[in-house]
Amino acid sequence: MNRLLITGGCGFIGANFVRWSLANQPDWEIVNLDALTYAGNLANLADLADHPRYRFVKGDIGNPRDVAAAMADCDAVVHMAAESHVDRSIEGPSVFVQTNVVGTQVLLDEARRGGVGVFVMVSTDEVYGSLGATGRFTEQSPLQPSSPYSASKTAADLLALSYQTTYDLPVIVTRCSNNYGPYQFPEKLIPLFVTNAMTDQPLPLYGDGKNVRDWIHVEDHVRALWRVVEDGRPGQVYNIGGNNEQANIDITRVILRVLGKPESLIQFVTDRPGHDRRYAIDAAKLSAEIGWQPQVKFDDGIAATVAWYQQNRVWWEAIKSGEYRDYYERMYANR
Ligand code: NAD
Ligand code: TYD
Repeated sequence: MNRLLITGGCGFIGANFVRWSLANQPDWEIVNLDALTYAGNLANLADLADHPRYRFVKGDIGNPRDVAAAMADCDAVVHMAAESHVDRSIEGPSVFVQTNVVGTQVLLDEARRGGVGVFVMVSTDEVYGSLGATGRFTEQSPLQPSSPYSASKTAADLLALSYQTTYDLPVIVTRCSNNYGPYQFPEKLIPLFVTNAMTDQPLPLYGDGKNVRDWIHVEDHVRALWRVVEDGRPGQVYNIGGNNEQANIDITRVILRVLGKPESLIQFVTDRPGHDRRYAIDAAKLSAEIGWQPQVKFDDGIAATVAWYQQNRVWWEAIKSGEYRDYYERMYANR
């Protein structure tokens, strides 16, 4: 039996990673280190709490003792704990530096000490900054992050690579595009707009609504991460993308159409400062070296995702009725 440590397993991608891993990787035990911040939710994995190959450790990646306890005897690390929301990073960058940069350094130091076989640093395509109308990000594109979030991820990404170069730690960096799917916290575009539309609240579209993201279903990302754990080359960076560019206004219209809601719910609001115009990922390297391809077609994935939010109203209503309301007021009231 092998043992993998995932950090941030109670968040959106993490919960999907843990679920998929327990179902599809029978030779692996999964240890999940998560601090349960506002974005971490034990309910995301409640039905798996007693699974024989799963262990949850509540702890902070910035605390060396928590990290040592969780990483003991682990063969692989998939590090995805982070502060992840761009708008929150604009409001308060400090916790982004603490968690995303310092937390990553603490994990890397423990991985060196413990001698793990592979350390996958889950970075983001946002490290590349913004594209104009043409071109796609390759692993050679310059790193030009725009927000405190993406700058902190860039720092962590490069720190991880430096541990490979300097200490020969077997680090692999992945840079994935925007994910969608079940369990995504309803501050991000798709779950925010789905849940607002379901309750006939306005959909606050930033700027002209024409910013473009390259959307990938979260399960395709999870499959890519496992392929990298098993067959990635240490010291390498791999882009992961959905080959699925969509303007925000088009995503919004799809959501409204699937839910049978009127376009009058769309409300154009003041743009996000430093708002990246376009992301598009060239994932040819991952495809050529490892044979990974995204499998979920966007039309199917978005319909299933909307259906999930319809079937799991209790899950997001509990979130949206808590401290989230203060956040929403601060973020959107005077926009
Ligand atoms: P999320 O915000 O939903 O979840 C983050 C998780 O990390 C939460 O469970 C939270 O409790 C935990 N966490 C935060 N601070 C912690 C700390 N100090 N110690 C331990 N745990 C802590 O994020 P997500 O959308 O699932 O993203 C996961 C990772 O994937 C992040 O590293 C993000 O940068 C990266 N990523 C996300 C996307 C996307 O579209 N969501 C795309 C590319 C890369
Ligand atoms: P988001 O889900 O925050 O992901 P990211 O900024 O990391 O790409 O936003 C996706 C896109 O949707 C981005 O262009 C910003 C836009 N957006 C809105 O127009 N309105 C909103 O309320 C939110 C949260 C995002």
